[in-house]
Amino acid sequence: MTEYTDYSLLPHNTFKMDVKAARFVEYASEEELTAFLSSGGLASPYLHIGGGSNLLFLSDYPGLVLHSAVKGVETVAETDGWIELRVGAGMVWDDFVDYVVGKGWYGAENLSLIPGEVGASAVQNIGAYGVEAKDLIVSVDAVEAATGRHRRFSNGECGYAYRDSIFKKELKGRYFVTHVTYRLSKLPVFHLDYGNVRAELEKEGKEPTLPDVRRIIISIRRSKLPDPEVTGNAGSFFMNPVVSESQFRILQAEYPDIPHYLAGEGKVKIPAGWLIERCGWKGKALGTAAVHDRQALVLVNRGGATGRDVLRLSEKVVCSVREKFGVEIFPEVNVIG
Ligand code: EPU
Repeated sequence: MTEYTDYSLLPHNTFKMDVKAARFVEYASEEELTAFLSSGGLASPYLHIGGGSNLLFLSDYPGLVLHSAVKGVETVAETDGWIELRVGAGMVWDDFVDYVVGKGWYGAENLSLIPGEVGASAVQNIGAYGVEAKDLIVSVDAVEAATGRHRRFSNGECGYAYRDSIFKKELKGRYFVTHVTYRLSKLPVFHLDYGNVRAELEKEGKEPTLPDVRRIIISIRRSKLPDPEVTGNAGSFFMNPVVSESQFRILQAEYPDIPHYLAGEGKVKIPAGWLIERCGWKGKALGTAAVHDRQALVLVNRGGATGRDVLRLSEKVVCSVREKFGVEIFPEVNVIG
């Protein structure tokens, strides 16, 4: 276990906020974490981070920031049709996707290049191009913050929904994920019906292979989403709002081209990027905080923006969408401070 005081979080948040944690603890195994917790090492306030790709720090963090360096991929079950892998929460998510695609195992390829780590995939239920982490997750191993006790959550117990899980709601801050077990298919199963994925693959004029799908997803993402190494951002700043079918019909009557997806139970999901663009925000800046010019759902730090600058911009965007469309949009990003 390594512990630091007055530790810079700059390399630990993709928005590139230059803030510090009063204490920072990184553990390399579940045993180290358990020993730390059972010896009373945890002090409030505390925050467990992953790759920091979904965080907006408003100021220095006055408490303890925990980070997992638990790595490793272990096969736990296998048939001719599928394989189950138990993966350390601190592994970089895209390294895992690259590994399974390289092995010829299907399921994670649409989630290529999503920033962050394996643990966050299970907390946040990351999703892209018609696939969500919950479609692959068998179980989640976690340690209880208060006791250091291990608990395994089945997929059903995780309460998965769109960018949501029990770890963000009832159990927020109460468990730290140490490992996630995923099931991948050994037989080809592709999900190509989202957006322009199939069209991009068809341009190549051949039957797509698993590495082809990963490559196309990466190129679509790179064409729309800013590279956090170059421009600070946390991917989609907002979640796509889900409205009732009756509210949607009213909006559709006024805006016949409004994109939408049926979200079940009489609900309709609307891309927040479209709503924000229609409010005129795409590519607009407030100082050094801006709405990305190729995907309006993403807010960016053009260099030197503070968390409060980004928050101020986000609040203006929320107001515009509310005033123009009567729709409430909520941050996907965790605002800390
Ligand atoms: N759109 C616009 N203007 C924009 C952006 C989007 O009009 O500036 C409209 C377009 O009509 C487009 C539709 O919105 O067809 C959907 O856009 P896109 O396919 O880019 O997806 P999204 O709904 O904006 C979601 C996820 C992304 C994920 C993509 C692809 C959320 C909050 N975001 O974005 O996830 O990569 O789908 O599956 O659900 C993230 O969570 O950080 C993230 C990047």
